[in-house]
Amino acid sequence: MDILQVKDVSFDYPDKAIIKNLSFSVRKGDFLCIVGTNGTGKSTLLKLILNLLKPDKGRILIDGENSRHFKSFNKISYVSQKATDFNSDFPATVEEVVSAGLYPSFGFLKFPKIRERKKKVFRALKTVGMHKSYKKLIGKLSGGQQQRVFIAKALINNPQIIFLDEPTVGIDVKAVDSICCLLGELNKKFGITIIMVTHDISSIIYHSNKVLQLRDDGSARLVDSEDFSQETIFTHVHHKNCKYSERT
Ligand SMILES: Nc1ncnc2c1ncn2[C@@H]1O[C@H](COP(=O)(O)OP(=O)(O)OP(=O)(O)O)[C@@H](O)[C@H]1O
Ligand SMILES: [Mg+2]
Repeated sequence: MDILQVKDVSFDYPDKAIIKNLSFSVRKGDFLCIVGTNGTGKSTLLKLILNLLKPDKGRILIDGENSRHFKSFNKISYVSQKATDFNSDFPATVEEVVSAGLYPSFGFLKFPKIRERKKKVFRALKTVGMHKSYKKLIGKLSGGQQQRVFIAKALINNPQIIFLDEPTVGIDVKAVDSICCLLGELNKKFGITIIMVTHDISSIIYHSNKVLQLRDDGSARLVDSEDFSQETIFTHVHHKNCKYSERT
């Protein structure tokens, strides 16, 4: 079943054409990576899907609902680009950051009681392995730990889809691997559909099953991760050979 359908979508900023006649669909349980060089429109595409921007043309359906009128906010979560980019004195604890994720689905009036809230927060933090840090200030954690907390925030309403915009930027290789494994587990163990913009394709490709490649001219193609990784290895070997032949 298709959980996301992008149908013939085009979008321009006032001075720049970004996305041209883009169509693709994502099935329930897919793990899609969106790749492309800087400025090809990856973040713009996520914002179009999440109704933060309006397509000039075309339609986007999330679980059959038009994204322009989408109301089932508990079905989806979004970890934005640079979510962890804030002052280290930011005065919020891990628990407060994660419980803020409850607002979109409950609103202020129906917000769960403290005990229930704490239980939900603890469960989400446990899933990402950060439950022991719930009292810590978010700004005092490492980049990788902060990213885990933001993933916990995204998990708190048991979403069907999580959108992430470059969740592995600025963290060390080991932490990148563990975030990738965590996302792979959320996908395989809990069946959550993951749609993730990344430049770290070599770290995540093993966990994903599809790659959407955006190009500078506004076109795009959807490929199976296996095919994509074979092509990438091929290119890599090709470059290596070129270098080698230059030296000899
Ligand atoms: N609000 C805006 N108004 C005008 N142009 C914008 C706006 N936001 C982004 N752009 C431009 O649109 C293009 C696509 O931006 P976008 O942020 O979607 O790229 P991206 O693929 O996510 O890049 P990166 O890999 O650097 O995150 C860029 O050239 C950017 O400068
Ligand atoms: Mg971006």
